[in-house]
Amino acid sequence: MASSRSPLDKIDIVEVVSSYIELRRVGNNFVARCPFHPDDTPSFYVSPSKGIFKCFGCGVGGDAVKFVSLYENIDYWEALEKLAKRYNIPLNVNRKSADDKLLLALQLVADFYHQELASSKPALQYLQSRGINSSTIKKFHLGFAGSVERLVNLLKREGLLEVYEKSGNILKAEKDLYHDLFRHRLVIPIRGVKGEVLAFGGRSLDGSHPKYINSPESEVFKKKSTLFGLYEAKEYIKEQEEVTLVEGYFDLMSLWQAGIRNCVAPLGTAFTEEHARLLSKFTKRVVLLYDGDEAGKKAVKSSVPHLLKVGMKVRVAYLPEGEDPDSLVKKDPQLLKNLLRSAPAVEVDLLEKVKRGQKGALEDLLHFCSYVPDSVARFDLLKEVAGVIGLPLADLQRRLVKVEIGREREEQPLSYPEVALLAFLYRFGFEGVSLEGLSLSPYALSLVEALRLQEYHLIPERIKNFKAENMHSVLIDSLKALSLPEVEVFRDFQHRREKSTSKPRKIRKRV
Ligand code: UTP
Ligand code: MN
Repeated sequence: MASSRSPLDKIDIVEVVSSYIELRRVGNNFVARCPFHPDDTPSFYVSPSKGIFKCFGCGVGGDAVKFVSLYENIDYWEALEKLAKRYNIPLNVNRKSADDKLLLALQLVADFYHQELASSKPALQYLQSRGINSSTIKKFHLGFAGSVERLVNLLKREGLLEVYEKSGNILKAEKDLYHDLFRHRLVIPIRGVKGEVLAFGGRSLDGSHPKYINSPESEVFKKKSTLFGLYEAKEYIKEQEEVTLVEGYFDLMSLWQAGIRNCVAPLGTAFTEEHARLLSKFTKRVVLLYDGDEAGKKAVKSSVPHLLKVGMKVRVAYLPEGEDPDSLVKKDPQLLKNLLRSAPAVEVDLLEKVKRGQKGALEDLLHFCSYVPDSVARFDLLKEVAGVIGLPLADLQRRLVKVEIGREREEQPLSYPEVALLAFLYRFGFEGVSLEGLSLSPYALSLVEALRLQEYHLIPERIKNFKAENMHSVLIDSLKALSLPEVEVFRDFQHRREKSTSKPRKIRKRV
């Protein structure tokens, strides 16, 4: 037993996790409501033997260090150090790692660009023309990429040239000749949550294309989990208990200047679930303030599911066609503030559209509905919709299940144990079977719902045709694998089996 593997084996995951949340023992494992998404059934599992946690609802998982880093919103290293201290584990790894050096280099370059801005007339003029004042310039540490020679010399002097190359922001053309990605552009530093410079965005000053160039991804910069402005905005977000999502760098800076400071912007890429998860650590309420054009509407549609999934309340403010927040806040700040204040919740907005009979609104509403994680809230909403359009609730539930199944199919393949369990339910029905405490993926859950509603055409052939030599032991194995409180279902199953072996049950005609 005492084979000395990694010193990290000393860390007891159950002890660590239960110092943050309450765990309940189930067999060899422990369960809880997942702390990383709104969870009405406990979907969060901790396996002491494997030293890992896993949530079957939202999919997060990992070891004790990962848990601490997620829960405390600190990076993996900090979490590791914390645990090492607690368990008295010597860490003989060099903390001043490559990543830290790259961060140091990025900060150095940001400072350099910022200093260069002071003597760059065209960049200062540009900022003036866009109404950006000197305190905003300071706050966002804006800069200008002038002389690449001076930049390279500085990096050399500090011994950080090679390190900085890893950012992808400068490219070596030939010996001692470098190309700066942001050459002659206004440079906007992009910071991590703690204020560390991770990357830059560079805007052209003369209308040349592309309008913006952003740093490529690097060891320290991941677009899908970085939000521009979050560091600057986070205290305002907490204070106002709401965050406003805008699309662009200048939207954010102009709003900041106008006193609307709880804003963040994704970086010219789609808003991701990771963005949503990051935001949900600061607040559970968000207003989308996207452009009024088609692209803006699409962006709303694709962002909302991610936000709903992590349990956020979403409101939507539509800007007049042709305006973005930057242009509108300059033209009519009061109108913009009113739009923000009166922005309706996304479901209310959609319900209004359904009432008005707008084409596609009901589909959109069901689509959104399928992402509402709280089943009670989802049911209430569905009931309301049914009232509004005068359709039986059951019909609407059927349509919702269809939407859910269509959506989840690609996202999540079923696991073998899930297939086995569904096959069992398909053949033997629900009678006497308690599904409480099962940890099934959302897709599997919607198939359960489809079975309940007897919508058999939605059930994959794989499940209908599922064959196992010994259905009995396959089911028991499956239940184990799903870490279910085996006994109840098992007892029922055995009971069923006795019935079904004594008198083979006729399977009802199922399409
Ligand atoms: P927009 O095209 O709406 O530009 O892009 P904008 O924000 O109004 O830019 P300004 O006001 O003319 O300066 C929205 C955001 O998408 C990203 C940027 O983050 C931009 O702010 N983007 C846009 C890019 O990353 N690259 C581009 O070429 C264009
Ligand atoms: Mn703009």
